[in-house]
Amino acid sequence: MNRLPEGIIVNELQLTIIRKTEEANDIFSFEFGCPFGIELPPFEAGAHIDVHVRPGLIRQYSLCNDPAERHRYVIAVLCDADSRGGALTLHRELEEGDTITVGTPRNLFPLVPAARTLLIGGGIGITPLLGMAEWLNHAGGAYQMHYCARSPGHAAFRARLADPVFDGRVHFHFDDGLSEQKMALPALLADADPDLHLYVCGPTGFIDYVVDAARDHGWQPANIHREYFTNQDLDKTGDGSFEIEIASTGAVLAVAADESASSVLIRHGYTIPISCEQGVCGSCLTGVLAGEPDHRDLCLSDDERACNNQFTPCCSRAKGTLVLDL
Ligand code: FES
Repeated sequence: MNRLPEGIIVNELQLTIIRKTEEANDIFSFEFGCPFGIELPPFEAGAHIDVHVRPGLIRQYSLCNDPAERHRYVIAVLCDADSRGGALTLHRELEEGDTITVGTPRNLFPLVPAARTLLIGGGIGITPLLGMAEWLNHAGGAYQMHYCARSPGHAAFRARLADPVFDGRVHFHFDDGLSEQKMALPALLADADPDLHLYVCGPTGFIDYVVDAARDHGWQPANIHREYFTNQDLDKTGDGSFEIEIASTGAVLAVAADESASSVLIRHGYTIPISCEQGVCGSCLTGVLAGEPDHRDLCLSDDERACNNQFTPCCSRAKGTLVLDL
Protein backbone atom coordinates (compact mmCIF):
# COMPACT_ATOMS: atom_id res chain seq x y z
CA MET A 1 0.00 0.00 0.00
CA ASN A 2 1.11 3.57 -0.63
CA ARG A 3 1.57 6.02 2.21
CA LEU A 4 0.64 9.67 2.49
CA PRO A 5 3.74 11.92 2.48
CA GLU A 6 5.05 12.84 5.96
CA GLY A 7 3.34 15.82 7.56
CA ILE A 8 0.09 15.57 5.58
CA ILE A 9 -2.87 15.61 7.96
CA VAL A 10 -6.36 14.91 6.67
CA ASN A 11 -9.68 15.32 8.44
CA GLU A 12 -11.92 13.85 5.78
CA LEU A 13 -11.43 11.12 3.23
CA GLN A 14 -13.12 10.32 -0.05
CA LEU A 15 -13.44 6.55 0.04
CA THR A 16 -15.03 3.91 -2.13
CA ILE A 17 -17.55 1.36 -0.93
CA ILE A 18 -15.51 -1.76 -1.70
CA ARG A 19 -17.99 -4.25 -0.30
CA LYS A 20 -21.56 -4.19 1.01
CA THR A 21 -22.51 -7.41 2.77
CA GLU A 22 -25.73 -8.57 4.39
CA GLU A 23 -24.47 -9.76 7.78
CA ALA A 24 -27.78 -10.56 9.48
CA ASN A 25 -31.46 -9.63 9.41
CA ASP A 26 -31.61 -5.84 8.86
CA ILE A 27 -27.81 -5.44 9.12
CA PHE A 28 -25.40 -4.65 6.29
CA SER A 29 -21.68 -4.12 6.69
CA PHE A 30 -19.86 -1.58 4.51
CA GLU A 31 -16.17 -1.83 3.73
CA PHE A 32 -14.61 1.49 2.72
CA GLY A 33 -11.24 1.69 1.00
CA CYS A 34 -9.11 4.27 -0.74
CA PRO A 35 -9.48 4.05 -4.55
CA PHE A 36 -5.78 4.93 -4.96
CA GLY A 37 -4.50 2.24 -2.61
CA ILE A 38 -3.25 4.72 -0.01
CA GLU A 39 -3.01 3.58 3.60
CA LEU A 40 -5.86 4.90 5.71
CA PRO A 41 -5.16 6.80 8.95
CA PRO A 42 -4.82 4.31 11.82
CA PHE A 43 -7.55 3.77 14.37
CA GLU A 44 -7.79 2.38 17.87
CA ALA A 45 -10.20 -0.26 19.09
CA GLY A 46 -13.48 1.47 20.02
CA ALA A 47 -13.08 4.29 17.47
CA HIS A 48 -15.83 5.59 15.21
CA ILE A 49 -16.00 7.58 11.99
CA ASP A 50 -18.37 10.29 10.79
CA VAL A 51 -20.05 9.07 7.62
CA HIS A 52 -21.40 11.81 5.35
CA VAL A 53 -24.38 9.79 4.22
CA ARG A 54 -25.64 12.60 1.99
CA PRO A 55 -25.30 16.39 2.02
CA GLY A 56 -26.28 17.68 5.45
CA LEU A 57 -26.59 14.22 7.00
CA ILE A 58 -23.64 12.95 9.04
CA ARG A 59 -23.90 9.84 11.17
CA GLN A 60 -21.39 8.14 13.44
CA TYR A 61 -20.60 4.45 13.09
CA SER A 62 -18.15 2.36 15.09
CA LEU A 63 -15.32 0.72 13.23
CA CYS A 64 -15.62 -3.03 13.63
CA ASN A 65 -12.66 -4.36 11.69
CA ASP A 66 -9.27 -5.26 13.10
CA PRO A 67 -7.53 -2.05 14.28
CA ALA A 68 -4.28 -3.41 12.84
CA GLU A 69 -5.70 -3.05 9.32
CA ARG A 70 -4.72 0.01 7.28
CA HIS A 71 -6.37 -0.79 3.96
CA ARG A 72 -10.02 -0.49 4.99
CA TYR A 73 -12.60 0.76 7.44
CA VAL A 74 -15.59 -1.51 8.13
CA ILE A 75 -18.85 -0.41 9.72
CA ALA A 76 -22.13 -2.25 10.24
CA VAL A 77 -25.49 -0.53 9.96
CA LEU A 78 -28.81 -1.66 11.38
CA CYS A 79 -31.90 -0.61 9.46
CA ASP A 80 -35.12 -1.86 10.98
CA ALA A 81 -38.72 -0.66 10.99
CA ASP A 82 -37.84 2.28 13.27
CA SER A 83 -34.85 3.46 11.23
CA ARG A 84 -34.77 6.71 9.30
CA GLY A 85 -32.23 8.97 7.66
CA GLY A 86 -28.73 7.60 7.66
CA ALA A 87 -29.47 3.91 8.00
CA LEU A 88 -32.19 3.96 5.34
CA THR A 89 -29.96 5.77 2.87
CA LEU A 90 -27.02 3.45 3.47
CA HIS A 91 -29.14 0.33 3.12
CA ARG A 92 -31.23 1.38 0.14
CA GLU A 93 -29.24 3.90 -1.87
CA LEU A 94 -25.53 3.24 -1.47
CA GLU A 95 -23.88 0.41 -3.34
CA GLU A 96 -20.46 -1.04 -4.02
CA GLY A 97 -18.41 1.33 -6.14
CA ASP A 98 -20.05 4.47 -4.80
CA THR A 99 -17.80 7.18 -3.33
CA ILE A 100 -18.48 8.48 0.15
CA THR A 101 -16.92 11.06 2.47
CA VAL A 102 -15.89 9.89 5.92
CA GLY A 103 -14.14 11.67 8.78
CA THR A 104 -10.89 10.38 10.18
CA PRO A 105 -11.37 8.02 13.16
CA ARG A 106 -11.97 9.40 16.64
CA ASN A 107 -12.15 7.39 19.82
CA LEU A 108 -14.46 8.16 22.74
CA PHE A 109 -14.58 4.51 23.84
CA PRO A 110 -10.93 3.52 24.27
CA LEU A 111 -9.70 0.34 25.90
CA VAL A 112 -7.67 1.02 29.01
CA PRO A 113 -4.87 -1.34 30.00
CA ALA A 114 -6.30 -4.01 32.29
CA ALA A 115 -5.52 -7.52 33.40
CA ARG A 116 -8.97 -8.69 32.28
CA THR A 117 -11.70 -7.27 30.07
CA LEU A 118 -15.42 -8.02 29.90
CA LEU A 119 -17.18 -7.01 26.65
CA ILE A 120 -21.01 -6.99 26.59
CA GLY A 121 -22.82 -6.05 23.39
CA GLY A 122 -26.52 -5.81 22.61
CA GLY A 123 -27.54 -6.10 18.94
CA ILE A 124 -25.65 -3.70 16.68
CA GLY A 125 -23.78 -2.56 19.80
CA ILE A 126 -21.39 -5.42 19.17
CA THR A 127 -19.53 -3.34 16.56
CA PRO A 128 -17.01 -1.41 18.71
CA LEU A 129 -16.51 -4.50 20.86
CA LEU A 130 -15.46 -6.55 17.81
CA GLY A 131 -12.51 -4.24 17.22
CA MET A 132 -11.63 -4.49 20.90
CA ALA A 133 -11.71 -8.29 20.76
CA GLU A 134 -9.47 -8.27 17.68
CA TRP A 135 -7.01 -5.94 19.41
CA LEU A 136 -7.01 -8.05 22.57
CA ASN A 137 -6.38 -11.16 20.43
CA HIS A 138 -3.22 -9.50 19.08
CA ALA A 139 -2.15 -8.19 22.48
CA GLY A 140 -2.76 -11.48 24.27
CA GLY A 141 -5.25 -9.77 26.58
CA ALA A 142 -7.59 -11.86 28.69
CA TYR A 143 -11.19 -11.15 27.80
CA GLN A 144 -14.68 -12.60 27.50
CA MET A 145 -17.28 -11.25 25.10
CA HIS A 146 -21.04 -11.67 25.52
CA TYR A 147 -23.20 -10.95 22.48
CA CYS A 148 -26.95 -10.57 23.04
CA ALA A 149 -29.30 -10.60 20.04
CA ARG A 150 -32.95 -11.25 19.30
CA SER A 151 -32.20 -14.48 17.45
CA PRO A 152 -29.31 -16.16 15.61
CA GLY A 153 -30.61 -14.53 12.42
CA HIS A 154 -30.22 -11.08 14.00
CA ALA A 155 -26.61 -11.64 15.15
CA ALA A 156 -24.10 -10.17 12.70
CA PHE A 157 -20.58 -11.51 12.18
CA ARG A 158 -21.31 -15.00 13.50
CA ALA A 159 -19.06 -16.56 10.84
CA ARG A 160 -16.21 -14.20 11.74
CA LEU A 161 -16.63 -14.96 15.43
CA ALA A 162 -16.45 -18.68 14.70
CA ASP A 163 -12.75 -18.23 13.83
CA PRO A 164 -10.57 -20.29 16.21
CA VAL A 165 -8.85 -17.07 17.37
CA PHE A 166 -12.03 -16.28 19.35
CA ASP A 167 -12.32 -19.82 20.71
CA GLY A 168 -13.89 -20.04 24.16
CA ARG A 169 -14.10 -16.26 24.53
CA VAL A 170 -17.34 -15.38 22.71
CA HIS A 171 -20.73 -16.27 24.15
CA PHE A 172 -24.01 -15.75 22.29
CA HIS A 173 -27.29 -15.11 24.09
CA PHE A 174 -30.51 -15.09 22.07
CA ASP A 175 -33.87 -13.72 23.21
CA ASP A 176 -35.63 -16.61 21.46
CA GLY A 177 -33.24 -19.24 22.83
CA LEU A 178 -33.44 -21.65 25.73
CA SER A 179 -33.25 -20.18 29.22
CA GLU A 180 -29.90 -21.85 29.94
CA GLN A 181 -28.18 -19.78 27.23
CA LYS A 182 -29.52 -16.42 28.47
CA MET A 183 -26.92 -14.01 29.84
CA ALA A 184 -26.47 -14.50 33.58
CA LEU A 185 -25.61 -10.89 34.31
CA PRO A 186 -25.38 -11.12 38.13
CA ALA A 187 -22.86 -13.94 37.82
CA LEU A 188 -20.84 -12.06 35.18
CA LEU A 189 -20.70 -8.94 37.33
CA ALA A 190 -20.21 -10.64 40.68
CA ASP A 191 -16.46 -10.09 40.47
CA ALA A 192 -15.99 -6.32 41.02
CA ASP A 193 -12.24 -6.65 40.69
CA PRO A 194 -10.17 -3.45 40.12
CA ASP A 195 -8.26 -5.37 37.44
CA LEU A 196 -11.42 -6.15 35.47
CA HIS A 197 -12.88 -3.53 33.11
CA LEU A 198 -16.37 -3.67 31.61
CA TYR A 199 -17.26 -2.29 28.15
CA VAL A 200 -20.91 -2.22 27.14
CA CYS A 201 -22.62 -0.98 23.99
CA GLY A 202 -26.11 -1.41 22.56
CA PRO A 203 -29.58 0.13 22.86
CA THR A 204 -29.91 2.72 25.64
CA GLY A 205 -32.05 0.48 27.87
CA PHE A 206 -29.59 -2.39 27.47
CA ILE A 207 -26.61 -0.22 28.42
CA ASP A 208 -28.42 1.27 31.42
CA TYR A 209 -29.45 -2.21 32.59
CA VAL A 210 -25.89 -3.52 32.47
CA VAL A 211 -24.31 -0.40 33.97
CA ASP A 212 -26.86 -0.24 36.80
CA ALA A 213 -26.24 -3.91 37.56
CA ALA A 214 -22.48 -3.31 37.64
CA ARG A 215 -22.89 -0.42 40.06
CA ASP A 216 -25.20 -2.55 42.23
CA HIS A 217 -22.44 -5.16 42.36
CA GLY A 218 -19.93 -2.62 43.63
CA TRP A 219 -18.07 -1.84 40.41
CA GLN A 220 -16.11 1.41 40.49
CA PRO A 221 -17.09 4.04 37.88
CA ALA A 222 -13.55 3.96 36.45
CA ASN A 223 -14.02 0.28 35.57
CA ILE A 224 -17.30 0.79 33.67
CA HIS A 225 -17.14 2.03 30.07
CA ARG A 226 -20.13 2.48 27.79
CA GLU A 227 -20.97 4.02 24.46
CA TYR A 228 -24.46 5.13 23.49
CA PHE A 229 -25.79 5.49 19.94
CA THR A 230 -28.53 8.00 20.72
CA ASN A 231 -29.41 10.34 23.57
CA GLN A 232 -32.96 9.21 24.17
CA ASP A 233 -33.15 10.94 27.53
CA LEU A 234 -32.36 14.38 26.13
CA ASP A 235 -35.21 16.45 27.57
CA LYS A 236 -35.33 20.12 26.62
CA THR A 237 -38.43 21.03 28.58
CA GLY A 238 -37.56 23.42 31.36
CA ASP A 239 -34.38 24.66 29.66
CA GLY A 240 -33.41 28.16 30.76
CA SER A 241 -31.21 30.85 29.27
CA PHE A 242 -27.54 31.31 30.16
CA GLU A 243 -24.45 33.20 29.02
CA ILE A 244 -21.18 32.15 27.47
CA GLU A 245 -18.06 34.27 27.61
CA ILE A 246 -15.31 33.92 25.01
CA ALA A 247 -12.05 33.82 26.97
CA SER A 248 -9.86 35.26 24.18
CA THR A 249 -11.99 38.36 23.62
CA GLY A 250 -14.15 38.76 26.72
CA ALA A 251 -17.25 38.85 24.50
CA VAL A 252 -20.38 37.66 26.30
CA LEU A 253 -23.07 35.90 24.26
CA ALA A 254 -26.59 35.16 25.46
CA VAL A 255 -28.03 31.68 24.87
CA ALA A 256 -31.82 31.77 24.91
CA ALA A 257 -33.85 28.95 26.39
CA ASP A 258 -34.85 27.62 22.98
CA GLU A 259 -31.42 27.53 21.33
CA SER A 260 -28.15 25.71 21.83
CA ALA A 261 -24.79 27.22 22.75
CA SER A 262 -23.35 25.76 19.53
CA SER A 263 -25.91 27.52 17.36
CA VAL A 264 -25.13 30.83 19.11
CA LEU A 265 -21.39 30.32 18.65
CA ILE A 266 -21.74 29.41 14.98
CA ARG A 267 -24.01 32.42 14.41
CA HIS A 268 -21.24 34.63 15.81
CA GLY A 269 -18.63 33.15 13.50
CA TYR A 270 -16.98 30.53 15.69
CA THR A 271 -16.17 27.17 14.14
CA ILE A 272 -17.77 24.40 16.16
CA PRO A 273 -17.73 20.96 14.52
CA ILE A 274 -21.29 19.70 14.76
CA SER A 275 -22.46 16.22 13.94
CA CYS A 276 -24.96 14.33 16.11
CA GLU A 277 -26.36 17.40 17.95
CA GLN A 278 -27.35 15.19 20.88
CA GLY A 279 -24.19 14.84 22.92
CA VAL A 280 -23.23 11.40 21.65
CA CYS A 281 -20.40 11.86 19.14
CA GLY A 282 -18.15 14.34 20.97
CA SER A 283 -17.48 16.35 17.80
CA CYS A 284 -18.33 19.66 19.43
CA LEU A 285 -16.50 19.22 22.75
CA THR A 286 -15.29 22.67 23.84
CA GLY A 287 -12.98 23.62 26.68
CA VAL A 288 -14.48 25.36 29.72
CA LEU A 289 -12.25 27.63 31.82
CA ALA A 290 -14.80 28.75 34.42
CA GLY A 291 -18.41 28.23 35.32
CA GLU A 292 -20.50 25.11 35.81
CA PRO A 293 -21.87 23.25 32.79
CA ASP A 294 -25.20 21.44 33.00
CA HIS A 295 -23.98 18.34 31.19
CA ARG A 296 -26.56 16.67 28.96
CA ASP A 297 -24.20 14.55 26.86
CA LEU A 298 -23.60 10.82 26.85
CA CYS A 299 -20.02 10.89 25.62
CA LEU A 300 -18.17 12.11 28.72
CA SER A 301 -17.56 9.81 31.65
CA ASP A 302 -18.78 10.73 35.11
CA ASP A 303 -15.23 11.68 36.06
CA GLU A 304 -14.80 13.85 32.97
CA ARG A 305 -18.07 15.65 33.67
CA ALA A 306 -17.09 16.24 37.28
CA CYS A 307 -13.97 18.11 36.08
CA ASN A 308 -16.22 20.71 34.39
CA ASN A 309 -13.38 21.63 32.03
CA GLN A 310 -15.24 20.76 28.81
CA PHE A 311 -18.83 20.48 27.61
CA THR A 312 -20.85 19.70 24.50
CA PRO A 313 -22.40 22.98 23.33
CA CYS A 314 -24.79 21.15 20.98
CA CYS A 315 -26.96 20.03 23.87
CA SER A 316 -25.43 20.84 27.26
CA ARG A 317 -26.30 24.03 29.05
CA ALA A 318 -24.98 25.96 32.04
CA LYS A 319 -25.80 27.25 35.45
CA GLY A 320 -24.90 30.94 35.18
CA THR A 321 -22.06 32.03 32.88
CA LEU A 322 -19.58 29.68 31.23
CA VAL A 323 -16.18 30.94 30.16
CA LEU A 324 -15.16 29.01 27.06
CA ASP A 325 -11.63 28.30 25.90
CA LEU A 326 -12.19 29.97 22.54
FE1 FES B 1 -22.15 15.36 18.73
FE2 FES B 1 -22.13 17.70 20.05
S1 FES B 1 -22.35 17.36 17.94
S2 FES B 1 -21.69 15.74 20.82
